[in-house]
Amino acid sequence: MSKTLRAVRGMNDVLMEETPLWRHIEDTARQILDTYLYREIKLPILEQTELFRRSIGEVTDIVEKEMYTFEDRNGESLTLRPEATAGVVRAAISNGLVHNQRHKVWTVGPMFRREKPQKGRYRQFHQINVEAIGYQGPDVDVEMILMSARLFRALGLPSIRLELNTLGTAAARQQYRRRLIDYFERYQSDLDDEAARRLHSNPLRILDSKNPALADIIAAAPSLEDDLDVESRAHFETLCELVTAAGIEFTVNRRLVRGLDYYSRTVFEWITDQLGAQGAVLSGGRYDGLYEQLGGKPAAAIGWAAGVERLVGLYEACHREKLAFQPHLYIVAVGQPALREAILLAERLRDALPGLNVDVNFDGGSFKSQLKRADKSGAPWALIIGEAELQAGQFGLKPLRSDAEQRSHDENSLQRVLGQMLADTTT
Ligand code: HAM
Repeated sequence: MSKTLRAVRGMNDVLMEETPLWRHIEDTARQILDTYLYREIKLPILEQTELFRRSIGEVTDIVEKEMYTFEDRNGESLTLRPEATAGVVRAAISNGLVHNQRHKVWTVGPMFRREKPQKGRYRQFHQINVEAIGYQGPDVDVEMILMSARLFRALGLPSIRLELNTLGTAAARQQYRRRLIDYFERYQSDLDDEAARRLHSNPLRILDSKNPALADIIAAAPSLEDDLDVESRAHFETLCELVTAAGIEFTVNRRLVRGLDYYSRTVFEWITDQLGAQGAVLSGGRYDGLYEQLGGKPAAAIGWAAGVERLVGLYEACHREKLAFQPHLYIVAVGQPALREAILLAERLRDALPGLNVDVNFDGGSFKSQLKRADKSGAPWALIIGEAELQAGQFGLKPLRSDAEQRSHDENSLQRVLGQMLADTTT
C-alpha cells in the first residue's frame, strides 16, 4: 500500500468550518482599512533571499534559522517570505513609489517561518499587514494604533493590552548597544548559550529572553531611554499624549525591542493573555532607515501586522457561537422535471435577489430524505417543488426553524417574501 501523505509540520489546512470566521476577520479589516484610505496591494510570496538578510537583519532568529530558502534552477537564492514589510519596501522601490510620494497600503497573505510549532505559532501563518510609506509621524503612528484598536473593537476582542516603546535613531541604538555589551559582559558566565551568542552580535535581543534565570540580570540592565536623542524623545512623548487623548490605555515597556532589526523610534505590540505563550496578536513599528538601507530614496515609514491565526484563536476564545455559512433557501425537488425547474428557478432567484444563498437538492432522494438534508443545511426555509407544484406554478415555502405553516407562492410572491427575509437578515 502506498504511504499516506500528510501536510508539512506547522502548516495547517483551514477547512470549511473555520473559513467563515477567517472571512469575517479579513472583511472587517478590509472595511476598516478602507475608512482610513489604505489601499490593497498583492505581492509575491517568493523574494530574493538577500532582501530579508538586509532588512530583517543577519543576526536575528528569522534570518539565522527560520527562513525557507532554496536555490532556484538558475542558482539564485530565493526565500519564502517570513514577513511582508521587506517585500512592501522592495515593491515600493522597484515600482518608483517612494520619491516625494506618500502611500498607505495593506496586504494579506501567508508568511513562512521555520519556528517550533505550538499553539498560536505555525510555520505557515497569515498576516494582515499595513504600512504607511513616506510619513514622518507621530500623527500617523497614532493612526496605526487607532486602526488596530478599531479592528479589535469591531471583532469584539476586549482583552488585549497595548505596549509601546521607542527605539530612538540608529545612532542612539548604537550607543545603547555598546552600553549593553559592557553591562552583559560583566555577567558573561551567567548568560545562557543563546544570550552568550547574542552578546556581541545583537545584545538588544537578550532583553527579550524568556529564560527566568536571566530575569534579574535583564531587569537591572541599562535602559535605552538614557541614550535617546531629543527628537525621538519628543516624537514618543507626542505619541503617548495622542494615544492617551484617544482614550487608549497602554504601558510603556522599555524592554520591547522586537525581533526584526529594521525598527527605529516607535515600536508597539498588542498582547493578550488568552492565547498562552503566543500572546502577541498585532505588532509593528517605525522603520525610517529601511528604504535607504535597501537602496531606495530615504523615506520614513511605519506599519503593523496582525497574525490572522491569533485573531481567529482569540475570537474563538471570546465568542461562543460559531460563524455559520448557511443557505437562506434549500430547494427540495422531487422528480426529474422538478429538479430541472429547481435549477432554473434558483438561477432566477439569484439574479433577482443578489446575496441570496440558494442550495438545490442534487442527486435526488425521497421527499423525506431531501427535507432531512434541508434541515441539516441550516437553511431557515425549504422550498418544495413536486409534480403538483409544477403543474400549479405554485411553490411550497416551508419554515424550518419555527412552527409556522407552509405557504404556497407563485414566483413573484416568492421573490417578495425572500427579498424581505434577506433585508431583515442583513439589517
Ligand atoms: P512580527 O512581530 O514578526 O512583525 O509579526 C507580526 C504578527 O504576526 C505577530 O504579532 C503575530 O501575531 C504574528 N506571527 C508572527 N509569527 C507567527 C507564527 N510563527 N505563527 C503565527 N503567527 C505569527 C512583523 O512581521 C512585521 N513585519 C510587522 C510590521 C509591519 N512592522 C512594520 N510593518
